[in-house]
Amino acid sequence: MMNTKIYYFSGTGNSLHISRTMAEHLGDTELINIASLTNDKVVFDTPCVGIVFPVYALGVPLIVRRFLENVNASSSEYVFAICNSASSQGMALSQTQELLNNKNITLNASSNVFMPSNYLPFGGAESEKIQQHKFKEAKIKLCDFAAIVKQKASTAVDDAKMPPAFIVSIIYRIFRWWIPRFARRYRVTNECNGCGICAKICPSENITLKDGRPVWSDHCECCMACIQFCPQSAINCKRIPPDRKHYHHPEVKASDLLVR
Ligand SMILES: Cc1cc2nc3c(=O)[nH]c(=O)nc-3n(C[C@H](O)[C@H](O)[C@H](O)COP(=O)(O)O)c2cc1C
Ligand code: SF4
Ligand code: SF4
Repeated sequence: MMNTKIYYFSGTGNSLHISRTMAEHLGDTELINIASLTNDKVVFDTPCVGIVFPVYALGVPLIVRRFLENVNASSSEYVFAICNSASSQGMALSQTQELLNNKNITLNASSNVFMPSNYLPFGGAESEKIQQHKFKEAKIKLCDFAAIVKQKASTAVDDAKMPPAFIVSIIYRIFRWWIPRFARRYRVTNECNGCGICAKICPSENITLKDGRPVWSDHCECCMACIQFCPQSAINCKRIPPDRKHYHHPEVKASDLLVR
């Protein structure tokens, strides 16, 4: 059996790349896409377990929350978490700690890494210079964090101090209510060639193809994968200028994230 399993969730590849980097540092590591899990009950059965995910609305994505709520048992001696955010992690790591504590699992070490933004409503892809700077800093931070994990050392959860907790919890509550319906804003253009990648990459089976075109339902995770990975750039979002520059991690292809 492997020494480490890293469970990751990734819309646009940043979290997958972080997971790959950690696996290189740690060795003997299996990467598991949370979106591809079919069994409701999760068992942490390797000596070391990692959880890697993007920050959504200053907290934990809903799919990761459900995953942590489904952990059934753990024989792992050491659990770490890495969240990644564009500018503020909010309370994502404290939320992770709380969800694990509910299962009597200790979060031994955790860290946030800054990565390029994928959230199209707030703007297109960041400049090449900013992206490269973030990748460089992330590489250094992950190398340091991997050393902590190898030593099985403990770190305290160090979440962002701003915005204050009560504001974060209001934003996050709105997010939980609103996000499943986010895809109502998506529109497909005539550029669509019916390739089906959007349906295959969607982590929540929220897309079906009808007459060769995507149709969205109401259990979106707002992960941006369909819009950012469409090879034809054929998906627009209501109230967002269609010429906004798309982003996905440069070393991650759509085929790396397909879940069906
Ligand atoms: C719905 C949504 C909400 C987000 N909220 C935040 C946020 O609160 N703070 C932040 O710094 N970045 C936020 N981001 C940006 C992502 O956390 C960031 O780009 C991350 O690296 C994406 O990882 P991925 O490529 O693995 O999906 C958000 C992105 C999405 C799609
Ligand atoms: S990924 Fe793009 S081109 Fe392919 S089916 Fe979906 S919308 Fe159409
Ligand atoms: S519909 Fe698009 S944004 Fe929503 S979960 Fe699926 S891939 Fe992600």
